[in-house]
Amino acid sequence: HLPTDVRIVEVGPRDGLQNEKQPVSTDIKVELIERLARTGLRTIEATAFVSPKWVPQMADSADVLTRSLALPGTSHIQFPVLAPNLKGLEAALSHGVREVAVFGAASESFSHKNINCSIDESLARFEPVAKAALQAGVRVRGYISCVLGCPYEGEVSPQAVAKVARKLADMGCYEISLGDTIGMGTPLATQKMLQAVAAEIPIESMAGHYHDTYSMALPNILASLEMGVRVFDASIGGLGGCPYAAGASGNVATEDVVWMMHGMGIKTGINLEQLVDTSRWINRQIGREPASKVSRALLAR
Ligand code: HMG
Ligand code: MG
Repeated sequence: HLPTDVRIVEVGPRDGLQNEKQPVSTDIKVELIERLARTGLRTIEATAFVSPKWVPQMADSADVLTRSLALPGTSHIQFPVLAPNLKGLEAALSHGVREVAVFGAASESFSHKNINCSIDESLARFEPVAKAALQAGVRVRGYISCVLGCPYEGEVSPQAVAKVARKLADMGCYEISLGDTIGMGTPLATQKMLQAVAAEIPIESMAGHYHDTYSMALPNILASLEMGVRVFDASIGGLGGCPYAAGASGNVATEDVVWMMHGMGIKTGINLEQLVDTSRWINRQIGREPASKVSRALLAR
């Protein structure tokens, strides 16, 4: 009972670049978003309205959002941004944002390292953010980090994930993105976690956000597909890593997900060739080799 189509949420411009040590210019970020928009992607997470002291690479969030929203022919595309608090939300709203994401965690230590507060404090902080966003007609997505393991605490219980998912859904998040921040998950653990979350929120409102640190992202996506999950976050070229999770590598590469889906007869609406071109282009801009095996194989043909 695999689905006929899936939605891929491109997080490269945000998750992919947030941890990049060398400065990446606003022009390059916007050109990346423009190129991604031409591949057929319908959701491109553009940037993060977070503290520039915490994540310097996202300091140009206002410009990136404004210029993304102004790209011609993209009115059908969502450009969500991260907003951890009212300060971030207000700035994003003043630049015309149409979708924001709040981001919590299923592990206390990670919550403290990432957003400087406990899980309960974060949920209390997100509530007015979600309320104000919804009142302004802006959609709200919710992230949960460390759903399959924490860099500081190790194992994380599926129940801890389910509890945060319930609270985020109650606040009005239309979708909950389940983050395997350090890529520790394996397929059966992933299914157990999804099962626990499914006791609280509908499968249709879940997204898989799997980092590929141990090459387990695709197996975990397949395991999630089998459970009925139809939305997956991915990063062009597999770019990225989390600044508050040492050694974490990027999200699963978008081109790898698209290759697998198309091979299975599942539609994505994305042009793989253009995606691979974009992967090659951004990797050249920041002086990296594409981490994606699909890109490497297709470019060698
Ligand atoms: P804090 O220091 O506790 O906040 O940080 P504060 O309210 O005390 O403010 C401190 C300073 O930051 C003040 O400036 C504020 O104005 C400023 P100062 O007076 O010192 O000059 N500030 C802001 N500036 C701009 N935009 C804002 C903002 N808020 C406060 N929104 C805070 C708390 C949440 C702000 C901070 O911890 C933070 O920005 N954290 C962001 C961390 C982050 O971006 N992590 C990466 C994204 S999450 C991720 O990658 C995981 C995910 O991919 C899923 C997965 O893979 O698991 C989503
Ligand atoms: Mg992430």
